[in-house]
Formats: sequence, structure tokens, C-alpha cells
Amino acid sequence: MKIFTTVADMQAFSAALKKEGKCIGLVPTMGALHEGHLTLMRAAKEKCDVVIASVFVNPTQFGPNEDFDAYPRRFEEDCRKLESVGVDAVFHPEPAEMYPEGYCTYVNVDGDITHKLCGAQRPIHFRGVATVVTKLMNITRADEAFFGQKDAQQVVVVRRFVDDLNIPVHINMVPIVREDSGLARSSRNAYLSPAEKEAALVLSRSLRKAKAAYDGGETNAEALKAIVTEEIQSEPMAVIDYVDLFSFPALLPVETVNEPCLLAIAVRIGKTRLIDNIILGDA
Ligand code: PAJ
Repeated sequence: MKIFTTVADMQAFSAALKKEGKCIGLVPTMGALHEGHLTLMRAAKEKCDVVIASVFVNPTQFGPNEDFDAYPRRFEEDCRKLESVGVDAVFHPEPAEMYPEGYCTYVNVDGDITHKLCGAQRPIHFRGVATVVTKLMNITRADEAFFGQKDAQQVVVVRRFVDDLNIPVHINMVPIVREDSGLARSSRNAYLSPAEKEAALVLSRSLRKAKAAYDGGETNAEALKAIVTEEIQSEPMAVIDYVDLFSFPALLPVETVNEPCLLAIAVRIGKTRLIDNIILGDA
């Protein structure tokens, strides 16, 4: 497995692959890799000739009071995991390589889709994501890029700017990978104490309750959100950031679930902010 730390070396590698007509798959990550990330890698392996993973904790998507400094960094362990699933190359730049002095260009997806859910509480987050993902696509010249449903709004935003900017890449969405307990896998789970981890089970449990009600015939959006809210409020360690339901992928408000809809939640357990979601109806 090749490791590249400069844009020039990564671009040279991809240029050579392009000449050979290879299909390049990109899986962007911030590292501290878990089974969720590795599932994206496997999906990419299946579809593409060559898989490039990026491991880069992107400073521009973190707000001033967020966890950029604390974010777990375990590059050697990550490389062992990437190698074990057959990833061909890793792009692991320093922040100064991606944002050198004088850097001043940003991709700003400025529509309704970035102002709700996580965008409401993290105002610069999606600008940072869109900027770094655009750069990663240009640097790796990916034909296919892979993202998790875990960050469903991120998938919607990425599809939007890829379309709007005519970037020649196809976006693949991979289902959420969970622990046996139901907890969605996340690099931020590493912040949780054992008691907090137990409390965090309320996220997936609340979504399962809503899904069961939906499967039983409940299609009223407010009623479904109330089921989730009530369940989360039954856990003393949990503080709700949002419980929301929108059509998917348009992310428009709905009163009744009669099309595919995203039921998404963000919950604080202690100092850790966790997200989870389910899609109701066939997406
Ligand atoms: P990160 O949080 O490291 O996630 C990288 C990718 O893994 C994302 O597409 C995310 O949705 C996916 N992922 C994380 N946990 C998952 C799970 N349990 N099941 C399925 N997929 C999962 O998302 C980012 O990094 C960054 O915003 C990035 C796109 C790399 C831009 O910096």
C-alpha cells in the first residue's frame, strides 16, 4: 500500500492510473478508522480498479469550539486496517499541504440543505466538507467516491455540489454500520466512558421505536418525532440537539411520511455529540 503526503505525488499517481484507463475509487475519511469506514473501503474495492483512502482531519470543517485538537489520530493503526482490506493508496497530507499560506477558496453550498440539521448548529461545517471533498476529488481524480449514510446530510450536500460544479464523479452511499448493541460506529465513540456508551444506546433504540411505529402504520411526522424525543428524554445523560424528519434526498419538510424520509437525530452524551438516522420508506 502506497502512502502519499503531498498533493503533487498523489496527483502523479492518479495521472498514471488515468492513462491506463483505470477506474479510481476515493474514500475520504478523517481516520481513527472503524468497521464503518472499512465497509466503505470494501464497497470501493468491489466497484473500482484502484482504491485511494484519504486520512485527513480537516480543520476547515470544525467550528472554534469543536473537537479538532482532541479528534483521535491513529495513523499507523489506520494504515494496518486499510492494508488488511486491500486499499491501494492512502493520501495523508498535513493541513499546510492542503491549505498553504494565502489559501482563500471555499466551496459554499448555500441552500436550504445546508441550513438545517447539522448545518443549523455547525454553521461553517458543510463549507469545510465541500471544500476538502472537492480538493480530494481533484487531487485523486476519482471516478467513484464512497460516503456513509451515517452522515446522510453530508451525502446530500456532496451530491449537490458535484452536480452543480459538474465534477465527473459518481457518489455512492453505503448503509450505516452498527455495533451489535445497535450503536452506530463512529470515531467519536472513543470519547465515551463505559457509562456514557451505555447511555448512547438510546439513539439507535429511539430510532428503532419510530421504525416499529412506522412499520405498524404510523406516518404522521410529528408523532414519529415525538416517539424518538420521548425515548431520548427517558435517558438522563442524553441532551437532544435535534430530532428531525425530512424527505430524502430533497430534505424538504413533510407532514406525512408517504415518500422516502430521513429521520435524523443529534444527541449530546456528556461532552460528546453523536448523530444517527434511519430512512423510512424505500430510498
Ligand atoms: P469521517 O467521520 O471519518 O467519515 C468518513 C466516512 O465514513 C463518511 O462518509 C462517513 O459517513 C462514513 N462513516 C462513518 N461512520 C460510519 C458508519 N457507522 N457506517 C457507515 N459509514 C460510516 O465524514 C467525514 O469523515 C468527513 O466529513 C470527510 C467526508 C472525510 C471530509 O473531511
